[in-house]
Amino acid sequence: MQETLITQINKERLPKHIAVIMDGNGRWAKEKGQDRLYGHFHGVESVRSIVEGTAELGISYLTLYAFSTENWDRPVKEVEGLIALLVDSIRKEVPTLNKNNIRLHVIGDLSMLPDFARNELNEALEMTSTNTGLNLILALSYSSRWELTNAVKQIGLDVKAGKIDPENINQDTIQQYLATSEFPDPELMIRTSGEYRISNFLLYQLAYAELYFTNTRWPDFRKEHLYEALIDFQSRERRFGKTGQQIQEEKQLA
Ligand code: IPE
Ligand code: IPE
Ligand code: MG
Repeated sequence: MQETLITQINKERLPKHIAVIMDGNGRWAKEKGQDRLYGHFHGVESVRSIVEGTAELGISYLTLYAFSTENWDRPVKEVEGLIALLVDSIRKEVPTLNKNNIRLHVIGDLSMLPDFARNELNEALEMTSTNTGLNLILALSYSSRWELTNAVKQIGLDVKAGKIDPENINQDTIQQYLATSEFPDPELMIRTSGEYRISNFLLYQLAYAELYFTNTRWPDFRKEHLYEALIDFQSRERRFGKTGQQIQEEKQLA
C-alpha cells in the first residue's frame, strides 16, 4: 500500500512545513488494557517513522507537539513518565539525527522542565546544530498563549528600551518575536485520534494552514498515513482569500 500511495504524491507540490498534534496515546493504551504510559512509549515508534518519511520526501520543517503547557496539569506519574521518555528518546536518537543530517529545535517554556531534562535537551540541540537537512521542531512545554504572551511582553520591553518604535510594529515584527521566528508557517497541520481542535498549538502560525484530521491514534500512525495526508493536502485549492478563478489564472501564468 505504501508504495502505491507514495507514487500519488506530487513531489513538486509538497508543503515546506508540516505540523503534527500527536494525539491518542492514552486511549490507544487503555483500549489494549494498558497504562497510558504504554501508549506514550509506543508513540515514539510513530515519531521515528514520520521523521524518516518527512526527511525522505525532502520536506524542510516538521513540528511535533510533544507536550503542552496544559499537560503539566496531568497526574504527576504521567508527567514524570512523559518527561523521562522524552529525554531518553532524544538521547537515543541523536546519532540517527546526525546520520540523517536532521537538526533538532525546541519551542516552549523550557524553564518549566527539571534541570536534567533541560540539560539533556540543550546538549542534543548543540550536537545537531550544524545539520542542514530536515529541521525537526519539538513543541515541548509549549502553548500558543504562552508564546503570544511572551512575544507581547518582549515587544513592550523593547519599545520601553527604545529599540522599536510602536508606529513601526507590523506583522513581520510579530513574527520575529514568536518562538518560531526562524521557521516558515506550516502549510499542513495533522491531528490524530479523531479530535477536531487546535489545543493551543501554533494559533498564529496556522492562520492559512490546511487542517487534516484522522481517527488513527498516534501510536498507529506510520508513513503511509503521512502520505494519505499529503495526497489530501494536494487535492485542496488554497485561495488565501482570493477567488478560485484568480487562483486558476495565476496558475496559468506561472
Ligand atoms: C498525546 O496523547 C500525547 C500527549 C498529549 C503528551 P494523549 O496522552 O493526549 O492521549 P489521549 O488523547 O488521552 O488518548
Ligand atoms: C494536545 O493534546 C497536546 C499534545 C499532543 C502534546 P491533548 O490531548 O493535551 O489535548 P486536549 O486536552 O485533548 O485538547
Ligand atoms: Mg489527548
